[in-house]
Amino acid sequence: MHPDLTERILQHLDAVDKVDTLELATQFNVDHQKVVGALKSIQAHGDLVNAETATQKTLGLTDEGQSVVENGSHEAIVYGLVPAEGIPQAALMAAGGANAKVGFSKAMSQGWILLDKSVNPPLIRRKVDHIVDNVKEQLLLVVSGRAQLSARDVTDYKKRKLLQETTTKSFVLSKGPEFSTTLTKLETDLTMDMLTSGLWQQLKFKAYNFDALGATPTRGHLHPLLKVRTEFRQIFLEMGFSEMPTNNYVESSFWNFDALFQPQQHPARDAHDTFFINHPAQSHKFPQEYLQRVKAVHSKGGYGSLGYGYDWKLSEAQKNLLRTHTTAVSARMLFKLANQEGGFKPAKYFSIDKVFRNETLDATHLAEFHQVEGVIADVGLTLGDLIGTLYEFFRKLGITQLEFKPAYNPYTEPSMEIFCYHPGLAKWIEVGNSGVFRPEMLLPMGLPENVNVIAWGLSLERPTMIKYGINNIRDLVGPKVDLKMVEEGPICRLDHV
Ligand code: PHE
Repeated sequence: MHPDLTERILQHLDAVDKVDTLELATQFNVDHQKVVGALKSIQAHGDLVNAETATQKTLGLTDEGQSVVENGSHEAIVYGLVPAEGIPQAALMAAGGANAKVGFSKAMSQGWILLDKSVNPPLIRRKVDHIVDNVKEQLLLVVSGRAQLSARDVTDYKKRKLLQETTTKSFVLSKGPEFSTTLTKLETDLTMDMLTSGLWQQLKFKAYNFDALGATPTRGHLHPLLKVRTEFRQIFLEMGFSEMPTNNYVESSFWNFDALFQPQQHPARDAHDTFFINHPAQSHKFPQEYLQRVKAVHSKGGYGSLGYGYDWKLSEAQKNLLRTHTTAVSARMLFKLANQEGGFKPAKYFSIDKVFRNETLDATHLAEFHQVEGVIADVGLTLGDLIGTLYEFFRKLGITQLEFKPAYNPYTEPSMEIFCYHPGLAKWIEVGNSGVFRPEMLLPMGLPENVNVIAWGLSLERPTMIKYGINNIRDLVGPKVDLKMVEEGPICRLDHV
């Protein structure tokens, strides 16, 4: 399209009240479709113009009509074939070709030729010395648009298939409420800055084109996160872990927080950090006796603990949310393990799935990400077992240098942040969090007193970004991901040891 066809249309409309797009096409000497295309992009900018549809019937030549214009009407051709001395009808027909029959009868009825039966064989002779080929003249006038034919003639020529009528849809344009002779650039992105400053209210946004067809991908490709997940899963399986069912993004506060001995006034339970669910807002089914023990340990303490000494509310525990960590799944599994038939048996579990946090988004944080979590429950486990397991786990990822820093989680004591030395980045980076689950969490579940549970968690995005050399998380997930990156990304092989 001519780049400023849109502005030419607007400028034209500035000077007149109304204009038809067909008229514009002739005036600008461009295809009518191009004018209509430009109109569509004007309309995408708002109510600059009013466009009413109009249909116009135009007369045009058929192929046969075209040949009449070029070679004369059939009757004129027949007349021209009749020599001064006359010609037998059969010879005339043979010379006239396909349209001789029509031409002959028209020429007869016009009185241009006659049949002379006084000679034998009878001859066709000219009756007049010269003719005026009206049909050809009239068709020529139609083409040049210089004359209006009478309705009778039009019907006649249509019947003779010399003329045809075509309907053209066009638009009659007039100035709209937002008329302007120039187009402002439409925004294609709604940014956080526009939202916080309120600027979005003054801006014009480009409408989505839901009819645009995307290129059909020849086949699917695994996203880097899925490739790295496969590797993590492989490592856990090699170490004898079994996978937990993580298929519930929506969780109750009870399993996400209360079961983990996280007090109800803990800041993480605020809407600033957690996405709460409105429909349904609450969960109602809980193991009742266990729930009572959780309530007791929070409010009064027990199992040698003072608890938090506050008024624990069921309504708070009932609130549904998008799980903020996969430790909610681990809590459900440990409760099951404590209450399974035949009593407690040692277990090793892992999970790799999505969690959600109401985060401020930046280059490394999104409101949803994946956690990798490992849990081991056995008799007499110690912090030493946790450290040893972490060394083994990270060694399988090709990471041999680890450091631990004391940390705090409501549900683990002691707790440790995990750091590893990254030779490529030449620095220590935080890779996870870990700890030994508190008795205030495990004993209300019904786990035996001599059973300890060690656990750790890390994000899947971080090692994926490091492995694939991606610096901004928005290049890894979300609408701006380059599908070429996904398509061409190598498979992931962590350096197994
Ligand atoms: N749930 C913790 C987190 O979200 C990770 C963790 C898992 C910590 C298990 C200790 C034990 O960061």
